[in-house]
Amino acid sequence: MAEWTAIFQNVLLNAANALIDARKKVVKISSHRHGNSRQVLIQDTGVGVDLDDSEALFKPFVRRLKISKERKALGLGGTGLGLTIVRMIAGHLDCKVRFR
Ligand SMILES: Nc1ncnc2c1ncn2[C@@H]1O[C@H](COP(=O)(O)OP(=O)(O)OP(=O)(O)O)[C@@H](O)[C@H]1O
Ligand SMILES: [Mg+2]
Repeated sequence: MAEWTAIFQNVLLNAANALIDARKKVVKISSHRHGNSRQVLIQDTGVGVDLDDSEALFKPFVRRLKISKERKALGLGGTGLGLTIVRMIAGHLDCKVRFR
């Protein structure tokens, strides 16, 4: 439970940060079943990600989004460690994480 909370908290905060300047602010969460495996898809209408470059975002301290000083001060993103941790925790749960 703690691990899944950390995963969703990180990913949803990323979505919220990506939506800051967007006119349409929507986050959609869906789940899908493929045989024995399950998939959770989290989509947002924010700035988006260059899929050719998205693997780099899982490396420590790699970050592209500008976040205001105020949000950083509140701990609402900005260190570039979130996705590194998400992938690490997901690995412990035998899950894979990626952008698509
Ligand atoms: N939903 C998203 N839409 C657009 N870009 C995203 C999204 N999620 C992640 N990113 C990009 O991936 C980068 C790395 O994300 P990551 O969560 O590792 O770091 P962070 O959010 O900047 O800081 P923190 O360590 O506090 O989470 C972000 O800076 C942003 O550029
Ligand atoms: Mg983050």
